[in-house]
Amino acid sequence: MDARITLLPGDGIGPEVVAEGRKVLEAVAGRFGHKFTFSEALMGGIAIDQTGNPLPPETLAACRSSDAVLLGAVGGPKWSDPRADVRPEQGLLGLRKELGLFANLRPVTVLPALAMASPLRPESVAGVDLVIVRELTGGLYFGQPQGREVTPQGRSAVDTLRYSEGEIERLMRVAFDLARLRRKKVTSVDKANVMASSRLWREVAHEVARDYPDVACEDLLVDACAMYLIRRPADFDVIATENMFGDILSDEASMLTGSLGMLPSASLGRGRPGVFEPIHGSAPDIAGRGIANPLATILSAAMLLRSGLGLAEEAAAVERAVEKVLAAGHRTADLAMPGQPKAGTAEMGDLVVAAL
Ligand code: IPM
Ligand code: MG
Repeated sequence: MDARITLLPGDGIGPEVVAEGRKVLEAVAGRFGHKFTFSEALMGGIAIDQTGNPLPPETLAACRSSDAVLLGAVGGPKWSDPRADVRPEQGLLGLRKELGLFANLRPVTVLPALAMASPLRPESVAGVDLVIVRELTGGLYFGQPQGREVTPQGRSAVDTLRYSEGEIERLMRVAFDLARLRRKKVTSVDKANVMASSRLWREVAHEVARDYPDVACEDLLVDACAMYLIRRPADFDVIATENMFGDILSDEASMLTGSLGMLPSASLGRGRPGVFEPIHGSAPDIAGRGIANPLATILSAAMLLRSGLGLAEEAAAVERAVEKVLAAGHRTADLAMPGQPKAGTAEMGDLVVAAL
């Protein structure tokens, strides 16, 4: 296969982890006889510094004309002044919106080798294998009106949570289709006891569920879901939810694996290209030190192979390589137990390539 892959390293540890993702993709191309052509483009804070725009038009064009996009992270203290007009995160949100990436898949799997790394007891996280299907182009992140004003009573600000039935339906279909390939259970998460948008969410979820009689469907209020993710995480299969709830629940769920540095994601729309990115942020505190965990990006590259390019065997090979490296006891700083040796970012990438 010939494929064009756009790399968006972004800010903070983004360039360091994307370099390892690329290394692994190159190794896959060599081993399986594919030709991957890489191009790099600016996004986020670095794009603001160099062009004034967090998502320059050339970057968007490069993404549109590629088969898949591998993204690092955006943001950092340099650009986080709340009064700034342009922010790196606008680039990420713009990319999601422009490419129509309405479904964000965030798998959370606890590998036996990492059960000890979780802050929860190993027996609580044993067998966890869930996917959060997060709506990504609607809700509070994009609803209008959004902004602030000064009123006679003082400053006031507004965000709007709006969902149309079409937006909910297409997201729920992604969740149910995915559940069919897994343990056939969808948990739809909302706050229907308080919010009108959630009551519509629940209604549409039930309508879609009728088309999937072979898949079990349950509703859960978001606060209860946050609790059950700690109390009985292994019971979840597919969790489908709106943008902001999915953002929060996926960071919480990452702790089941012991580190945010382990979680990949795929943002998909109708047709190509998808954007594949680790869910951790730019981690400015450790940027440039060569100690970041590249496995979330490497596992995102595996998702890119599977969902972006349709290369299932290659994706599974990458995932097996990661498992092998962890089973052999290699750990980056975020996962190491006290006293355990710590592998650096590039070293971890090399180990995965060797295991491939
Ligand atoms: C994520 C991140 C982003 C989000 C930020 C960086 C805008 O937290 O992908 O989860 O909130 O969607
Ligand atoms: Mg987040």
